[in-house]
Amino acid sequence: MELKKIWLNINGVDRVMVCNPEKDTLADVIRRLGLTGTKVGCGTGQCGCCNVILDGKLVRSCVVKIKSIPDFSKIITIEGIGTPTNLHPLQQAFITYGGVQCGFCTPGFIVSAYALLQGNPNPTREEVRNWFTVNRNACRCTGWKPLVDSVMEAAKVMRGEAAMADITYKAPPDGRIYGTNVPRPAALSKVTGTCDYGDDIALKMPPGTLHLAVVMPGLNHARIKGIDFSEAENMPGVVKVITAKDIKGTNRIFQLAGHPRFKGDAWDRPILCDEKVFRYGDVVAMVAATTREQAREAAKKVKLDLEELPAYMTYLDAVAPGAVEIHEGKPNEYLRCPLFKGEDTRKTLADAEHVVEGSF
Ligand code: FES
Ligand code: FES
Repeated sequence: MELKKIWLNINGVDRVMVCNPEKDTLADVIRRLGLTGTKVGCGTGQCGCCNVILDGKLVRSCVVKIKSIPDFSKIITIEGIGTPTNLHPLQQAFITYGGVQCGFCTPGFIVSAYALLQGNPNPTREEVRNWFTVNRNACRCTGWKPLVDSVMEAAKVMRGEAAMADITYKAPPDGRIYGTNVPRPAALSKVTGTCDYGDDIALKMPPGTLHLAVVMPGLNHARIKGIDFSEAENMPGVVKVITAKDIKGTNRIFQLAGHPRFKGDAWDRPILCDEKVFRYGDVVAMVAATTREQAREAAKKVKLDLEELPAYMTYLDAVAPGAVEIHEGKPNEYLRCPLFKGEDTRKTLADAEHVVEGSF
């Protein structure tokens, strides 16, 4: 592996680092510097979590190879836009107008909006939406409205038409929280990129911490007849292959069963699958190894003996006569909720300006 020294100007400071130019992406390098506000969600250029500004242009840093970047390129990350004690209007607006929920996408959205407002300080709502769409910013939590609201309100401050105080949440005098837009408690860390998620914590663990890779069969429904990890446990760097037999105590996750109509017993979800695979993402084993690459290579060598069972991809398939029980001894129905209907809506519908019909 040939390593190369490179210089980059990151958030106004020249930084030198040693990289593998063939393998490292811009996101890898930024994150290794400890700037973990740049998140990697998909790693394939699809979600915008890793957005940074490279020489004035918005890029998805997970797909920019470090070898393609000239020395002393200028990079702005979320940490260069504002800090917890000196927020940028976009960061304040995302807090106030509900642009943050889980927050994983938030730094990418704020960097993206920052780039938009640099070029277009007075966008329409449509232009904001379009910008996020074209730049592939994806958020699975908020819906689009709070994100667009946040950008529109921040833009007013940036144009000098409003002050930071105008876009900062003010608690009602009676101290009430219910019915207000009180910011989420962790919003500040999420808008500044200082909130640590799994991969961020991994980068901050002490030397010698082992890496885990999961073994997933990739089937929707199957019976586990055997797991052979003899080859995997002899792979370089592997410390242990963990299966359900290693789980101390009950290999079940107790799930919510408080609903009076719930039909299971709440003990049907395994931590690591032991007898059956119930859905596509189920995990049957984990490999602990010295490096992430070693763990992932060894995980590929775990051999599973599986009997594939029928997969029900819709409710109707799952409850059709003759369908096998997914959790044996329990119906393929989680719970049944009655539908209470109000007054006959046919007259109201007849008067409505627009009527949409469909199956939802
Ligand atoms: S992590 Fe880069 S686009 Fe998704
Ligand atoms: S806030 Fe969760 S993905 Fe956007």
